[in-house]
Amino acid sequence: METNKPVRRKRYSGKYPKTFEEKYKEKQPDKYQDIIEHVMEKGNTPAGMHRSIMVDEILAFLDIKPHQIGLDATLGFGGHFKAMLEKLNHTGHIHGIDTDPIELPKTYERLKKSGFTDQDFTLHHLNFKDLDLVDSKGYDFIIADLGVSSMQIDDPSRGFTFKFDGPLDLRMNPSVGVTASVRLRNMSMEEIEGMLLENADEIYAKEIAQEIINARLKGDFLETTKALHKTIEKALMRLPKSIQKDAIKKASQRTFQALRIDVNHEFEALFEFLEKVPLYLKPSGKVAILSFHSGEDRLIKKAFQHYYREGIYKEIQGPDIPSLDEVHTNPRARSAKLRCAVKK
Ligand SMILES: C[S@@+](CC[C@H](N)C(=O)[O-])C[C@H]1O[C@@H](n2cnc3c(N)ncnc32)[C@H](O)[C@@H]1O
Repeated sequence: METNKPVRRKRYSGKYPKTFEEKYKEKQPDKYQDIIEHVMEKGNTPAGMHRSIMVDEILAFLDIKPHQIGLDATLGFGGHFKAMLEKLNHTGHIHGIDTDPIELPKTYERLKKSGFTDQDFTLHHLNFKDLDLVDSKGYDFIIADLGVSSMQIDDPSRGFTFKFDGPLDLRMNPSVGVTASVRLRNMSMEEIEGMLLENADEIYAKEIAQEIINARLKGDFLETTKALHKTIEKALMRLPKSIQKDAIKKASQRTFQALRIDVNHEFEALFEFLEKVPLYLKPSGKVAILSFHSGEDRLIKKAFQHYYREGIYKEIQGPDIPSLDEVHTNPRARSAKLRCAVKK
């Protein structure tokens, strides 16, 4: 029987996908290869992927020979790792380290799918400062590509960026230490200001630290990335309108960088790593390190110069920077600096 009851119009599901998984079709590379290529052509990095930086320069320096043993201290997406495995062509072995327990198994699967086996490589869930825990008789080459991967930045649940809302976490290994939100809850104003200055040369460190304390006094404990971003906006509200937007963006980038360095104890880990590297390089072994801000680069430069003066390294090189072409196709490369050393 027909009724006159109006049929409920099907609800429009919206033009834009609602979830991160839906939005970023690139996260399913088998299905959406064309989209991935399009995103890369536009100079962007597809979500769930990381574009490795200065690969050709690093490979040229390492000059990998068959049967060599290597270490990649920052495996990430495995881009440099795979390029080095290809050079070995199923001879030799490479150990890969990463502190991130979320991305590490994905990279393992990806490497397996690319045709490499446990004969070719071994992965270790470790902080690179503990490289002595890897069972090896020494390396012909060691590389490190510091900082975070695009997969970490692009995952809102990790809290690495103010571009998405998510918990203010910023830990590369979420099972170690405390979140950035907890750090900000427990630091004094002077400590926050010092952390912003020391880790990111933040020019508005005082204003931002003051606003974080103001928020705290009102009961806002900055539990999300957006809450921190809003606090930075508030701190810089008195800047002239003409420069405000850009200043807020840059201050937010620097503040997130400073917090990331703080919660992951990045300088301490790098310092320990740089001290251990010469102990684990074979004679004439090579080390190449990519860094992305002046604090890291200073530490690497000092360590390399120190061991060169001591006669432990026979050669040091750098800093080298990516070509303009590379920066054009991958803007995330723009602040990269490569330093290399060769052991005596
Ligand atoms: C820039 S990404 C590396 C990308 C990689 N070279 C590639 O081509 O795909 C940096 C990686 O280093 C890891 N990492 C950063 N600090 C670390 C540390 N102290 N110990 C171990 N891994 C670390 C991060 O979790 C991240 O996966």
